[in-house]
Amino acid sequence: MNKWTTNELRANYLKFFESKNHKIISSSSLIPENDPSVLFTTAGMHPLVPYLLGEKHPEGKRLTDVQKCIRTSDIDEVGDSSHLTFFEMLGNWSLGDYFKEDSIKYSYEFLTSPDYLGIPKDKLYFSVFAGDDMAPKDEESYNIWLSLGVEKDHISFLPKENNFWILGSGIGPCGPDTEIFYDTGKEKCSENCSVACDCGKYLEIWNNVFMEYYRDEKGNLSKLSQQNVDTGMGLERTVQVLNGYSSVYDIEEFVNIKSYLENVSHLKYDDYKESFRIIMDHMRAATFILGDDHNVKPSNVGAGYVLRRLIRRTIRHLRKLNINEYILGSLASIYIEDYKSKYDELERNKDIILNELELEYNKFSKTLKDGERLFYKTIRSLNGKVISGADAFKLFDTFGFPLEMTIELAKENNLEVDIDGFDKCFKEHQDKSRTLDAGSYKGGLADHSEMTIKYHTACHLLLAALREFYGSDVYQKGSNITSERLRFDFNLDHKLTDEEKKRIEDRVNEMIKTNSDVICEEMPYEEAVKSGAIGSFANKYGETVKVYSVGNLSKEICGGPHVLNTKEMGKFKIVKEESSSAGIRRIKAVLE
Ligand code: ALA
Repeated sequence: MNKWTTNELRANYLKFFESKNHKIISSSSLIPENDPSVLFTTAGMHPLVPYLLGEKHPEGKRLTDVQKCIRTSDIDEVGDSSHLTFFEMLGNWSLGDYFKEDSIKYSYEFLTSPDYLGIPKDKLYFSVFAGDDMAPKDEESYNIWLSLGVEKDHISFLPKENNFWILGSGIGPCGPDTEIFYDTGKEKCSENCSVACDCGKYLEIWNNVFMEYYRDEKGNLSKLSQQNVDTGMGLERTVQVLNGYSSVYDIEEFVNIKSYLENVSHLKYDDYKESFRIIMDHMRAATFILGDDHNVKPSNVGAGYVLRRLIRRTIRHLRKLNINEYILGSLASIYIEDYKSKYDELERNKDIILNELELEYNKFSKTLKDGERLFYKTIRSLNGKVISGADAFKLFDTFGFPLEMTIELAKENNLEVDIDGFDKCFKEHQDKSRTLDAGSYKGGLADHSEMTIKYHTACHLLLAALREFYGSDVYQKGSNITSERLRFDFNLDHKLTDEEKKRIEDRVNEMIKTNSDVICEEMPYEEAVKSGAIGSFANKYGETVKVYSVGNLSKEICGGPHVLNTKEMGKFKIVKEESSSAGIRRIKAVLE
């Protein structure tokens, strides 16, 4: 059998949809331009949301592309045979043009036609939406599959958990979907094994979503003005199944990096699959994030935190393969070389990629050194053989010293670590510092650097000033803070004039000059709301929250941290004001 390459699948897919009058569009950035609620582009439809909602796309109503995506919700699963954080998604869209019938027919033709993928029909299985009180059973899709000759026992009706698709935020265009699975030929794991089972017998390769609804913040569905089709086919996964591979890491995209790692480590991939895969995946994702024109750098918040985690985890697994020297640049260069013909931004941003990797490597090396010093200090005052969860957590929280390193060193010193105790501290810390900002990475280390703390407080004052001028209907809609600047999204129906910007700036500086104390109180959410604290999130009932007050200027529910007094903050300056999305404005500001 001829092996499929990702290049062939990309080209085949685009050619097929071009022959069905679709316009090929290029991949958008990995960092969503107009959506502060998420850190990365997670699906091909993401950059197309305004057009699914009815705006006219300049290229027309039929589009197709290959979109670079990052999904980090399963980052801890990477290392098994299937999970990837970075992947490419093939997609085709109808923006109020064809609907279920043509969508399903196109998919079936592309998959089974000998001119395209030529998959034997009996290898394909399908699921359709079973219906519930929200949206009806999708008999139409079922009947279309049958009309194409699909056997009844190859189609399953599944509930919304499986067959209703919406972006992770749960808000936006959405609808029932029909998913297409490939039977790998493995034995069924049980009598009940079906496409809904994740044992690996059936692998999902394509999802066709029929987006005719909009889901709002409250979870209510309303009909969109047009019926859309949004499809997504995982490039790597599909090449894997077409070639009959048991792992996605067997495709040609990973061949060069794998052999490089084998050469440097003198170890075999087959013997150290988990670490090899984590390195291969994480370095590819890190290279693409750094290579994006969006200038994300490793940091302790948002996308920068994910990037930091990817790089640091790579370094840890390199150490597991006994590679202690600096090779991140060489690994990234392999990907840049392999991908630059399709993603020229990687070549354009090559210096940034290589510089940032080296900087982060040096920072992490220092962290490891400091952590090791503290580790030995900790064990000198130890009674007994077990390092407590609190001590392990302190190493992690204060010095960013990974638990795995503590365990490794403990082993070398014939000690144990109370991992359950660590988990407990970790969870308590998460609960305490879980920020209410939709843009922040769940489970991320709260950034406690001096500048970011000042920017946190500046966001509160900025919101207070905005509400003074434009009324209490103005809310924070997202924010992103680095040690260099703040970015703040809020709802307002117009672009700010220069005078308005000046007025806001002056007012925030006036507030800073009041030298007000910032007070933190903990209370139940309901009480916080009753006391007039602003929170951009609902449904927190029963939870204890932190309320930060800045004198009597601002009172917000927030995870913190904040300065103790506004006199620490410096001078506030707006550097940019722009649209973020419909009805949402974005201010970028600095403290000088
Ligand atoms: N947006 C759909 C998905 O990502 C096609 O599965």
